[in-house]
Amino acid sequence: MASADADAEEPEAGDSDVFPVPALRERAAACAERLRDPDEFLLCSHIDADGLTSAAVATSAFERAGFDFETAFFKQLDADAVASIAATDYDTVCFTDFGSGQLDVIAPHEAAGDFVPVIADHHQPADAETEFHLNPLLEGLDGASELSGAGAAYLLARALGDATDTDNRDLAALAVVGAVGDMQDGEGGLSGANEGLVADAVAAGALREVTDLALYGRQTRPLPKLLEYASDARIPGISNDQAGAIEFLSDLDVPMRDADGEWRRWVDLDADERRTVASALIRRAVSSGVPSERVDSLIGTTYVLADEEPGTELRDVSEFSTLLNATARYERADVGLAVCLGDRGEALDRARTLLRNHRRNLSEGLQWVTTEGVEREDNVQWFDAGTRIRETIVGIVAGMAVGADGISARQPIVAFADKGDGETKVSARGSGFLVREGLDLSAAMREASRSVGGDGGGHDVAAGATIPAGEREAFLAAVDELVGEQLADGEDEEDE
Ligand code: C5P
Ligand code: C5P
Ligand code: C5P
Ligand code: ZN
Repeated sequence: MASADADAEEPEAGDSDVFPVPALRERAAACAERLRDPDEFLLCSHIDADGLTSAAVATSAFERAGFDFETAFFKQLDADAVASIAATDYDTVCFTDFGSGQLDVIAPHEAAGDFVPVIADHHQPADAETEFHLNPLLEGLDGASELSGAGAAYLLARALGDATDTDNRDLAALAVVGAVGDMQDGEGGLSGANEGLVADAVAAGALREVTDLALYGRQTRPLPKLLEYASDARIPGISNDQAGAIEFLSDLDVPMRDADGEWRRWVDLDADERRTVASALIRRAVSSGVPSERVDSLIGTTYVLADEEPGTELRDVSEFSTLLNATARYERADVGLAVCLGDRGEALDRARTLLRNHRRNLSEGLQWVTTEGVEREDNVQWFDAGTRIRETIVGIVAGMAVGADGISARQPIVAFADKGDGETKVSARGSGFLVREGLDLSAAMREASRSVGGDGGGHDVAAGATIPAGEREAFLAAVDELVGEQLADGEDEEDE
């Protein structure tokens, strides 16, 4: 295995074509053109890592284009949020990382002349049409793996750049953070249209693509924690085993502490040392019977932000996205946006404080779910966290819980949390395997929530909804039935 620097791809100059199909270029150009018309407009985005990076990409491109605009963030673009937007004086509203799924709510406002929507999104579109709409799903691309909200915003930025003297390619690295924040990367890294973004970011010198140990926390976690917390790997005697992880490392011929006696981190190791640790880890996994696909997934494609300081949360794309979630999901999108836009002072300090809190919440949430366990219906498993897990992170916790003891990776997981306003938040997570079997959580969340007076949507593999409190049982029955039908239909298709 090579070190970060040795294995970095050579930046290549020249014209990459980031638009995967001409129709997306046309959509991006139409949206860009429309934004030139108004004297001022409103930019609205979603409160997660992808939504923040979407807003950062858009904001940078808009400023360079000399646009006059304000920015606002929303937890969910529901009917109330859209109505509040309609009540403003803006007659043009740009939506990033949401908008498609709420087109049916937006369309009546457009028809009433409240505002013209310009949408750059990657969620499953609702049943309605609009003119300025940039979404990979409209052109046959996968919105859950091939292009994220930030990627759509980046295509818009590139279209804007075509008409100005900047090409906006330096913004591609932020879009990569968004894609990884939405878990669009697999073992081989990003795929589909996302690869064009990676190429642009690499060419701009902002990103390096590195084959490396695929564990979360290479930049900031002390080595024993890096291994101990790698619970997905499930290596007996190392994963979730502090003493075991320390013992494993201590047996290697690599100094584990620095001159001050502090644990070293993965970034502190040189290429040879990394190879030693990685080889030993793989040998240990193999000898303790870890299945080969899980052994293979210990090494994968990772992304390093070349301009950020090594050993910080900003240097690794995945850690960066977690830092952003730690701000926006706690009503501090302003802090995350400032970090994306380059604030390495006060905003970064603030974000790091928020990150400590976010990590504690994730770890306590995960602890609670794995202790309580899940309930099982015919086709889905579920838990209701009530007020124990914040509704804005219950989906992340649900995703992290899959694969833990008693939580199957073979059934979708549905999580509930109280919103505290007479409503219940729902988050659902599936897997690539289940999607190939016919699972579409976006459709299931939308239909089941609407059947009880709520609303929802998202992606086939990950979706969410809001339902009235007290409708959990009816909702769950509807989801269970819908998912059962989807998986049965998937089976039929395979038989054909
Ligand atoms: O709103 P948005 O599109 O940003 O959210 C996508 C969500 O779906 C993220 O929370 C991400 O972690 C989740 N996801 C997932 N598995 C995938 C793709 C996305 O859990 N394969
Ligand atoms: O990419 P995503 O936001 O879905 O990651 C979920 C969360 O899991 C991250 O916020 C990160 O803090 C956490 N995580 C972790 N240890 C891992 C993997 C993820 O703490 N091994
Ligand atoms: O909130 P959570 O992380 O579970 O969201 C998963 C996916 O479902 C995200 O892409 C989110 O935008 C989408 N979602 C939605 N409508 C809701 C809730 C979530 O489209 N009411
Ligand atoms: Zn997104």
